[in-house]
Amino acid sequence: MKRIGVLTSGGDAPGMNAAIRAVVRTAAYHGVEIFGIYRGYQGLLDNQLKKLGPRDVSGIINRGGTILRTARCQAFYEPEGRAKAAETLKANQIEGLVVIGGDGSYRGALKLQEEHGIQCIGVPGTIDNDIGGTDFTIGYDTALNVAVEAIDRIRDTADSHERLFFVEVMGRHSGYLAMMSGIAGGAEEILVPEIPTDIQRLVDHLNQGAAKGKTSAIVIVAEGDDAGHAIDVAKKVAEVSQYKEARVVVIGHLQRGGTPSAFDRILASRLGVRAVEALLEGETGKMVGLNANHVLLRPLSEAWECRTQFDPEYMRVAHVLAT
Ligand code: ADP
Ligand code: F6P
Repeated sequence: MKRIGVLTSGGDAPGMNAAIRAVVRTAAYHGVEIFGIYRGYQGLLDNQLKKLGPRDVSGIINRGGTILRTARCQAFYEPEGRAKAAETLKANQIEGLVVIGGDGSYRGALKLQEEHGIQCIGVPGTIDNDIGGTDFTIGYDTALNVAVEAIDRIRDTADSHERLFFVEVMGRHSGYLAMMSGIAGGAEEILVPEIPTDIQRLVDHLNQGAAKGKTSAIVIVAEGDDAGHAIDVAKKVAEVSQYKEARVVVIGHLQRGGTPSAFDRILASRLGVRAVEALLEGETGKMVGLNANHVLLRPLSEAWECRTQFDPEYMRVAHVLAT
């Protein structure tokens, strides 16, 4: 293999740049040419490629976002879109592709491989940490720390004013990030999409806490909770709780930006090196992942077939500690 491509796709995640750097430098180390593809799969449709060398990725290990930009590409869901993407790769003699993204991006990569014989390796990049085949995804640790820092700040003012706060954390389809943010931030309640929300139980629990001497409370609401967004839950709960009113904070996209943590940089570096070396070994249709601190190759389909299941034990821990 003489030439490979790298792209970032789906929601951006802190540490994607560290992964791009690792991929580009590993290719250079092994004497392989590498092309950066801009705006995910859209860049393949629009022929937006640029040859990258090791110096093009200097000074990005500490930067959030992705220098290659990212996008969600509707046309890639269709066979015609993927055929056009494959044409671009073949016209540029790119035989292998490193796809940095989540399970949606992997589904696209697998189809590109099956339909057009493009060698593909996935690198897990998403703040949600909700895909199979890896213990951690790049970006999750940074996003978690941003959320926890925000909760700590909210705790100060909640305590001072003896208030109830609802804090919305990202994760449309997964409550993992919200759950961990709540445990680390010492939240009184954590609402996640995986567990149906019982508003009356929530009110009772907040009131019991007040009866036991709590003078403020923080409720974490995952973006995708069945009871609605934090603002909706606050409306249903505040007046009938002892607090009578509530404040709402949506952390939102703050979690996706900013300097990646050391953990995410190291994870991205290890996975990026392995991804390129896997392509050079002739591997395809696989993702690189971290398993018990070992970098392993797993089938791309594991990302969705073995999707990380929500562990109710975390909820139990949170409940015990909210006593
Ligand atoms: P993530 O990779 O973070 O899960 P998305 O689900 O938004 O993000 O997927 C990113 C992109 O991957 C989509 O915009 C689309 O171009 C491509 N993609 C996702 N799912 C599929 C699919 N089933 N078939 C083909 N392409 C897909
Ligand atoms: O998948 C990553 C993620 O940040 C989710 O946590 C969130 O629900 C979603 O993307 C938000 O997506 P958008 O980029 O459309 O705001």
